[in-house]
Amino acid sequence: MHSSDSHPERSRFETYYSAPQAPWEIGRPQPAFVAAADSIRGRVLDVGCGTGELALWLAERGSAVTGVDFLERPLEVARGKARARGLAVNFLKMEAAAIGTLPERFDAVTDCGLFHVFDDGGRAAYVAALAQLLEPGARLFLLCFSTAEPGPQGPRRISAADLRAAFARGWQIESIEPAVFETVPGIPGAEFTPGGARALFAVIRRAG
Ligand SMILES: C[S@@+](CC[C@H](N)C(=O)[O-])C[C@H]1O[C@@H](n2cnc3c(N)ncnc32)[C@H](O)[C@@H]1O
Repeated sequence: MHSSDSHPERSRFETYYSAPQAPWEIGRPQPAFVAAADSIRGRVLDVGCGTGELALWLAERGSAVTGVDFLERPLEVARGKARARGLAVNFLKMEAAAIGTLPERFDAVTDCGLFHVFDDGGRAAYVAALAQLLEPGARLFLLCFSTAEPGPQGPRRISAADLRAAFARGWQIESIEPAVFETVPGIPGAEFTPGGARALFAVIRRAG
């Protein structure tokens, strides 16, 4: 994982955001986060926030929210939505591996579709940054594609064992539940299980 503008994933996501609609742009928060809403409170960091639907929804519910993404384009869209909705969310351009350097403290981090983007090295760097950022007791709420989703399209598939391995030391897994990851229907190359790609929703607490 690199922090320079030559990040190989960056051009892939730039291509997604130059299309009329990216596959994950469903215009509302994913249902797994809506179901967990009462647990996601206080100061929240949304990592890989994209155009901000989850961050803005959490802010609307009373959380103090920061959203970070490594691309300026979706952040500009997110800032426009915040202005239009009269919501104050701090949208920052930042590499996920750098979040450990943020000066703010957070009660929760939300990750909707970022963890499953990383290769093994990127995943380790991301988990290390989360560990640097979060104090004991803070929680990570994470939605990723699961190994139950068939087919080769889309992001990496993640198993419960993958999550347990990634967060083996310094974390307590509170829950890992089957979930769905809704996508925009009809986008070529992004055809998943009708009703939502098979996914996992994990709640993971930073241990002392
Ligand atoms: C699958 S999209 C999900 C966007 C948003 N969370 C949502 O649910 O609509 C993944 C997002 O993570 C961002 N991203 C990917 N790799 C990143 C990285 N290394 N650091 C920061 N953001 C990253 C992409 O630009 C994209 O906006």
